[in-house]
Amino acid sequence: KKRVFSGIQPTGKIHIGNYVGALSLWVENQKKYDNIFCIVDLHSLTIPENIDPKYLRKKVKEIAALYLACGIDPQESTIFVQSHVPQHAELTWLLNCVTPMGWLQRMTQFKDKSKKSDSVSTALFDYPVLMASDILLYQTDLVPVGEDQKQHIEITRDIAQRFNHLYGDTFKIPKELIKKSGARIMGFDDPENKMSKSTGEIKARHSIGLLDSKADIKNTIMKATTDSNREFRFDHASAGVKNMLVLYENLSGKSRSKIEAHFAGSNYGQLKRELVELTIENLEPIQKEYQRIIKEDSYLDDILEKGQKKASQIAAKTLAEVKKNMGLN
Ligand code: TYM
Repeated sequence: KKRVFSGIQPTGKIHIGNYVGALSLWVENQKKYDNIFCIVDLHSLTIPENIDPKYLRKKVKEIAALYLACGIDPQESTIFVQSHVPQHAELTWLLNCVTPMGWLQRMTQFKDKSKKSDSVSTALFDYPVLMASDILLYQTDLVPVGEDQKQHIEITRDIAQRFNHLYGDTFKIPKELIKKSGARIMGFDDPENKMSKSTGEIKARHSIGLLDSKADIKNTIMKATTDSNREFRFDHASAGVKNMLVLYENLSGKSRSKIEAHFAGSNYGQLKRELVELTIENLEPIQKEYQRIIKEDSYLDDILEKGQKKASQIAAKTLAEVKKNMGLN
């Protein structure tokens, strides 16, 4: 079986974009692959606003419970917390030594995030190298992510290739796995920009959180930005309408032509009302499962501990090989 590795940062409001773009793809392919899913708490620390220890601890549990509630099966997949496996941080240092600064300076996510903050940490700059370590430690074949992570997988490949060139064949070269539709869900309030966990936490009606109430879901969708036309064709619709059509497509599993035919001659209110229903239908079972799991603290701890053991074994093996090849043994 091919190895899959992916992760989510335990910060902000985890939203329907994370679900459609990443989590649902993990679940869909779960039986096909050998899966490792990480809660990347070290990445969350790169933005200084996120460092409140209580918040971080709570968020790690929340993401773990959401993984399970969305259908990640601990019998099929390894679930663990990044900071529980110290090899991630150690490999980051070693990979830093083969990564030119110029490569990191070109990262669009760094450019965007550093513009928004007046105190940019060294770690934010180094973020892609930590992500490369996550992926390469497990000799990963496929990384299922949303569109926004594509550049990070590309640099991971570059780092792996450079390392293999300098020190001999050590790492498998990974590929991204990105959905054709739904890999970039936009904000309901601002469909020119992608839905974001941090914006969703501070701004109402930007995103739909996986744990949002029915009333909030309804409010957000009914007030979503549209236009003054009645254009329901995927290729011609304005950004806000297209975004809702794409969500409808992903949540219903229906084909684009069926959806276009269904809404032809209708109005945006109808699309919105149906999307509200569909969203609630999809999220209700997840929320029920979540409420059940989040109360079982020792069950969660148990899964994360097993995950840590399994992940550590693989990580330790790769890191030993890396150190040997670099002359560090
Ligand atoms: P993060 O935590 O920002 O997002 C988690 C996953 O959700 C996807 N995603 C989206 N998909 C569709 N539409 C959106 N609006 C949207 N917003 C986010 C992301 O692409 C991601 O797949 N750097 C990563 C975490 C990470 C990681 C890794 C991922 C760290 N190490 C190793 C894969 C492999 C991140 O910040 O994702």
